[in-house]
Amino acid sequence: MSKHTGSSELVANSSNPPIKTNHIDSTHALALENANMYSLNLSQQELTLEKTEVSPSWMKQSVNLSYNPLISRTLEVKGSRVNGFDIDVPKVLVVDDNAASRMTAVALLAMEGYEVIEADSGSTAVELVNQQQLDLILLDVMMPGIDGFEVCQLLKQNEHTRLIPVIFITALNDKRSRIRGIEVGADDFITKPFDRVELAARVKSLMRQKRLNEDLDHAEQVLFSIAGAIESRDPNTGDHCERLVKLGEAFGEYLNFSHTQIRNLMWGGYLHDIGKIGIPDGVLLKRGKLTPQEWDIMRQHVLIGEKICLPLRSMRGVIPIIRHHHERWDGSGYPDGLIGDEIPYIAQVFQMIDIYDALTSERPYKRSFTKEEALSVMAKETESGWRNPKLLKQFVEFITS
Ligand SMILES: [Fe+2]
Repeated sequence: MSKHTGSSELVANSSNPPIKTNHIDSTHALALENANMYSLNLSQQELTLEKTEVSPSWMKQSVNLSYNPLISRTLEVKGSRVNGFDIDVPKVLVVDDNAASRMTAVALLAMEGYEVIEADSGSTAVELVNQQQLDLILLDVMMPGIDGFEVCQLLKQNEHTRLIPVIFITALNDKRSRIRGIEVGADDFITKPFDRVELAARVKSLMRQKRLNEDLDHAEQVLFSIAGAIESRDPNTGDHCERLVKLGEAFGEYLNFSHTQIRNLMWGGYLHDIGKIGIPDGVLLKRGKLTPQEWDIMRQHVLIGEKICLPLRSMRGVIPIIRHHHERWDGSGYPDGLIGDEIPYIAQVFQMIDIYDALTSERPYKRSFTKEEALSVMAKETESGWRNPKLLKQFVEFITS
C-alpha cells in the first residue's frame, strides 16, 4: 500500500520520525529508536537483541526503571495509522520473555500502525488470547513454563482461536524449531534480529490471509443461518438441531473421536437437513402420509444439501452426514442404498443420535418416548437390519452410562 511505503520512507529518515514518542513510554521509545537505527542498517553488533547477548546499557537501564515484566500492556500509537486500515486497527500480540527483544518487535509493529499488546510468558499469552480479539500473534519459541509450541498448539486446537495467524520467532538456521513449529500449526517464521521490512511484509500477508479465512467462516455462518431458518419453517422438529449438536458432541467424545470429527458431527446436527430448503412446502409441511411421488421429492433433500455445501472446503467432513443420514445398514435406505460399512462411519454415528432424538421428542404425530422406549425401538430397528448392531450397543452404553 502506498501509505505504508511512504511511512517506511519516513521511518528510514531518522530526522523525521513518524511516531510521537510521547504516545508511548520511555522504554518503548528507546526500543523504537533502536528499531529505527536498525532499519538504517547500522552495525548489527550494536543492535542485535538476541537473548544470549548482553543488552546495551541504555536498554538495561530503561527496562529496570520502567518495565514491569509481570504486567502485559497495550501500546496504542494513535495518529500513526500508516497502513491505511479501512476498519479497526489490527491487533497484534507479541509474546517473548526477553524484554529487549519483545520491545523491539512491539516498536516495529507500532511503527506499522498496528495496535500491539505484549506478554512476557506463554501463560499470559493464553490468558490474553481469551480476553482480546487478536489478529496475529508473534510468538517466541523458548520461554519458561508454557513454551511457544504449547501455546501455538492450544490456539490451533481451539475453534475460537484457530484462525489467528501465529508467526514463530526463531533463531537463524534453527531447523528443529521450524519443524516442530510446522507440526503445531505455525503459519510463518521470522528470525532474530528482526528485519523491519520482512516483519512488516509477513505480518501484512498473514493478516490478509486471515481476512480471507474469516470470509470463509462467514460463508459457513450463512449456511448455519439457512439451516436454522429451515428448522423454524418445519413445525415438526422444534429444537431438534440444537439437541443433535449437544448429543453429537457428547457421543463423539464417548467414541474418542478427534476434535475435527466431533466438529463435523456437531455441524452435521445443524446442517444435515439443509437441503430441505429445496423441498416445496406442500411436501415438507404436509400433514398426513406422503404419496410415493412426494416421497421421491422429499428424498432429494440429501442431494440438494450436499450440493449446497460441496463448494466449501471446510464442509467436506460434514458432507457424508448430509448425503448418507438416511441410509440403512441392510441397504434399504437412500440415496445410494449403501450396505453395512459402505455407509460412512460418521453418518452411522449421526443416525444414532438423530433417531434417538426424534424418538425422545414430542412431535405433532407422536408423544415423546422415554429413554428405555426409544432404545427398545432402536433395538427392534437393528434386529430388522436397519442399524449397525455393534454401534447400537455402544450407543446404548453411552446413553445409559
Ligand atoms: Fe434428513
